[in-house]
Amino acid sequence: APVAWARRTDVVVVGTGAAGLSALLPLVAAGVDCVAVTRGDPTDSATAWAQGGLAAVWEQSDSVDSHVVDTLDAGAGLCDPVAVADLVASAPDAVLRLIELGAAFDRATDGTYDLHLEGGHSHRRILHTDDATGAEVERALWAALQRATAGTVLLPHTRLVDVMTDDAGSACGVRVLDGTGRIGEVRADAVVLATGGLGQLWPVTTNPSIATADGLAAALRAGAAARDLEFIQFHPTVLAERDADGRGVLLSEALRGEGAVLVDRSGRRVMDRVHPLGDLAPRDVVSAAIMAHLADSGDDHVFLDLTALGATRLQRSFPGITRLCRERGYDPATSPVPVLPAAHYSCGGIAADLWGRTSVPGLFAVGEVAGTGVHGANRLASNSLTEALVAGHRVGDLLSGALPRPGAPSARAVVSTADPSHLPALQTAMQEHVFVARSGGGLADALASLAEVLGSGTDPTGRAGHRDLTATNLTLAAQAITAAAALRTESRGCHRRVDHPTPAPAWERRIVITLADGRLR
Ligand code: SIN
Repeated sequence: APVAWARRTDVVVVGTGAAGLSALLPLVAAGVDCVAVTRGDPTDSATAWAQGGLAAVWEQSDSVDSHVVDTLDAGAGLCDPVAVADLVASAPDAVLRLIELGAAFDRATDGTYDLHLEGGHSHRRILHTDDATGAEVERALWAALQRATAGTVLLPHTRLVDVMTDDAGSACGVRVLDGTGRIGEVRADAVVLATGGLGQLWPVTTNPSIATADGLAAALRAGAAARDLEFIQFHPTVLAERDADGRGVLLSEALRGEGAVLVDRSGRRVMDRVHPLGDLAPRDVVSAAIMAHLADSGDDHVFLDLTALGATRLQRSFPGITRLCRERGYDPATSPVPVLPAAHYSCGGIAADLWGRTSVPGLFAVGEVAGTGVHGANRLASNSLTEALVAGHRVGDLLSGALPRPGAPSARAVVSTADPSHLPALQTAMQEHVFVARSGGGLADALASLAEVLGSGTDPTGRAGHRDLTATNLTLAAQAITAAAALRTESRGCHRRVDHPTPAPAWERRIVITLADGRLR
């Protein structure tokens, strides 16, 4: 498709969830010229849907060491310990900054912050705004940006197509698809990807419909390395009934923190004798236990029993979840709600440090799209919003100093595209073979069927329409994830292989994937 318009800025930020907005704020304060590209309205993001909250050491009785140990334990040997220690130490300040911007988190009657407990945490350290924390985080950040908006041009309903690179391979801007269906170019000295995740690879996900791996796919095409892609977190408790758009209704882990339990059809506890933390085991353990229970019993789903919380407590602390259940005909105060694991979070992503620096000069990645090593093989609950705030703020600070000086974009490479008609089959293959329990044979089957999809597209000039772009990006991401999962012949964190059921010490290392000459390696 021809380029219909072009503009220039210092920094282009793609995505306006917690990571993107956190990056924009220091840039705007420093007077750096920015363009913010966002796929829907500015506050359409996975952040806005987050229920649980923000993990940060908050009370005297808690400690940085304890939060570090919990994060490393959940990460099952694959976290980068330096990045984890850095994130955990930086978390309380990131939360304080947000409070200074006006974010309101729930407090107890004595005025202290009410802290929730979630799976894998050995202390209460989750700050929250009832069960809609992400919406409050997004609101506060967006309001702050609006107050300070001189210097930022916002392009809503505009979607990333590709990261442009110069002849030396440095990022020099982005090519986008605008709200009128035209291709535009935003030239910039630095590109910040804060595009979120890829839950739409599976038929049911807690992610919004925009979570189509756009950032990961564009970064791979621009030559960036990705890491830890095989570690996809499947949230254990998603209402076993999906909306027409594949949205799964999340039942926050905080419910189990407050006493909800997983039971089967006959009321037997699912997590009994599975893990010392029982219902609050790390979520990979809980999801695997549910799937094993279903395989044994032949049932379609298990239940989350919230009745112990009582109607008043549910209404007061979890009003959003109570409403979402009631709208679907379930009264969580009186009877257990049917649940299943569903795609929730990509622990890996574009290889980056906590300042967003990737392997491509001038290209930065923050938030879920980045793989920084803080989540290792499995993210600890509520560490993701915290990471988005910390890394977003840092990249904004970093780029408020010296900016790179890339050259002009080099010629567009020909991209192998995928036909959108393959998408339902792709999601089915991911659910069948690249879900909670994986096997070498299943992963090989998935790779074989994915190989046929790329190159089947009808738009050789490059993904002119949304559906082509979605199919192309999801297929590339599916190939990369499945290839990494096939390579990792062990079970670790949220990557579980029925044919290799235990962790292998030789695999205490990360898998890095790049795209070169049209092939993933
Ligand atoms: C939840 O509320 O259970 C989700 C929290 C998270 O994904 O960190």
